[in-house]
Amino acid sequence: MNSLPPGPKGSLIMGVMREFNRDTLGFIERCRRDYGDVVRSRFLYVTAYFLYNPADIETLLTTNAKSFRKAQSLRSPFFHRLVGNGLVTSEGDFWRRQRRLAQPAFHRQRISSYGEVMVQYANRAIDKWRDGEQRDVAKDMTRLTLEIVVKTLFNSDVSNDADHVGAMLSQIARPFASQATLKWIADNRLPTPGHYRYFNAVREIDNIVYRIIAERRASGTDEGDLLSMLLQAQDEDGSQMSDKQLRDEVMTLFLAGHETTALALSWSWYLLATHRTAEAKFHEELDEVLGGRAPEVSDLPRLKFTEMIAKETMRLYPPAYAVGREAIEETEIGGFRVPRGTQLFAFQWATHRDERFFERPDEFVPERWADGSMQSLPKYAYFPFGGGPRQCIGNYFAMMEIVLLLATIGQRLKFTVLPEHPVEVLPVLSLRPKNGIKVKLSARQPSLHRAHDAAPLVHG
Ligand code: HEM
Repeated sequence: MNSLPPGPKGSLIMGVMREFNRDTLGFIERCRRDYGDVVRSRFLYVTAYFLYNPADIETLLTTNAKSFRKAQSLRSPFFHRLVGNGLVTSEGDFWRRQRRLAQPAFHRQRISSYGEVMVQYANRAIDKWRDGEQRDVAKDMTRLTLEIVVKTLFNSDVSNDADHVGAMLSQIARPFASQATLKWIADNRLPTPGHYRYFNAVREIDNIVYRIIAERRASGTDEGDLLSMLLQAQDEDGSQMSDKQLRDEVMTLFLAGHETTALALSWSWYLLATHRTAEAKFHEELDEVLGGRAPEVSDLPRLKFTEMIAKETMRLYPPAYAVGREAIEETEIGGFRVPRGTQLFAFQWATHRDERFFERPDEFVPERWADGSMQSLPKYAYFPFGGGPRQCIGNYFAMMEIVLLLATIGQRLKFTVLPEHPVEVLPVLSLRPKNGIKVKLSARQPSLHRAHDAAPLVHG
């Protein structure tokens, strides 16, 4: 029988919980350095394995996916109240059916029709910004991606009440933000005032979502949005989703679909603002490909460097910095025994920065993604969208949104990070900037030889 992997002992009762919560990212990296590719640790009474090798991550997510389900941390009552049995949390045949029904809504062609909304909303947002102004670009990106996801999901414009929806969402995000991911294992059920506010906020959002579903069912119109696609989706036996299931999927897409994308954008702006050579190359590409006009989906194949920026940003700052699973049967991984019930985690944060797979792993080098350069990269050395059957359904949506928004905004302005506001990473459910990303804006003019069709500068 195979042996168990090595790992830190931690304290008698808490295991490694304290060390993990004190410095999550440092702890994850130290474990690999000190113990190797498969590390065993304990959080209270729960055993967790950390996987660092792309081959083992492939076993977890793809080759032997049938031996695992989503990690226990995703089954917390909090999370369940919010997203119910939606695509992120459901399992087995139920998940398979839902994925089959939802998949057509994410086909490239369908998604491409949302490109125009993305560009239009980005331009509308920056129209209000002023040259020289100081802003928190992380907050701006969250608001913008929220408006875009609501428009593409419901064909509804929340720009006027985005702050209200935003306030409710931040109520919802608070209990998540206050705890490190694995602490969810502690199954937090205590009735604190924070929890009370959380459940109230979920109820309020529920009311909005159910109202929209009822209106849409009554009108029967195809609005061309994701909700229409989900409403029309039919299984082979003709069955459709119930209101409750639609609600769960909509909430899931709403949550999964905007914060991660906002983070990829925010970290991109941060990296561009702190790497002026890459930024200059980015501007050159925008001026050459667009010459001042608004980008369109058909420009995407030529916005190659912009796409490389997006990929390199998600290597260094993967918005989803970990994926977790639970073994539903005894199995093995990397030559080690995995008892049933073990929680297993692969960390994009660590594997994306592993010098075995990436030269100068901590440096921002978008060029490393130039055509063909990464052919020898093991498949799961880079997995910002996960992989296997549970791979992100919105990966194309997200890449399109990131590249179009970078191009739209980068064309008209640039950012400088305010030195008095240092940027820090906060790994909660996603990889967030702890105190936002405070920047100063400056307007930029596209290259002069194309100035005849240049977009107006930021109003100053
Ligand atoms: C940069 C942006 C994004 C990142 C980094 C990201 C990352 C991920 C990852 C890592 C997973 C797999 C989780 C696991 O295996 O446990 C996932 C799943 C998922 N994502 Fe995304 N995501 C992004 C954007 C989006 C968008 C825009 C949508 C929808 C509009 C979306 C919807 C989903 C859904 C529904 C799942 C669950 C799929 C399933 O299990 O069938 N995501 N995402």
